Amino acid sequence: TTAVAVRAEISYIMVKPDGVQRGLVGDIISRFERKGYKMAALKLYQTPRDVAEEHYKDLASKPFYKDLVNYIVSGPVVCMVWEGKGVVATARKMIGATNPLASEPGTIRGDFAIEVGRNVIHGSDSPENGEREAGLWFKEGLVSWSQTMEPWLKE
Ligand code: PPS
Repeated sequence: TTAVAVRAEISYIMVKPDGVQRGLVGDIISRFERKGYKMAALKLYQTPRDVAEEHYKDLASKPFYKDLVNYIVSGPVVCMVWEGKGVVATARKMIGATNPLASEPGTIRGDFAIEVGRNVIHGSDSPENGEREAGLWFKEGLVSWSQTMEPWLKE
């Protein structure tokens, strides 16, 4: 029989321009690797304004929407899709609260940020948005891994 890789839950994770400029990309990738999630897509990307607007379209009526879009297009971001059991909720825990002053030490924002408008990283807030955002940022599609490494991570 042929092993068919079934795509598990995915989250769209993005290191924002401040995180890229400050050299935090390696640390952030390392946290997701060591946790046991699988990288399904990765690129350094200068975001077109229309993609940033589409990504944050649910926030269009918020007073900070324009600043948020300007921030995201202000420099290259690192776009990633991470895959695995419970990745959406677990990534949000690893990232920490939206306002970095409320993020616990040990989380990414708790360790690296103090301003909500420079909070280093984005993570999808639901599995549905994980799928939506992965499709928006990776129109070229995701990578499917062979299952060779699975026994080292999963029961
Ligand atoms: S809200 O108001 O509850 O919808 O906001 P929240 O879910 O906490 O955050 C949604 C995204 O907006 C970003 N955000 C901000 N950016 C800039 N300035 C201010 N004041 C601000 N408040 C919230 C927040 O970081 C979320 O973006 P992502 O990229 O998803 O983290």
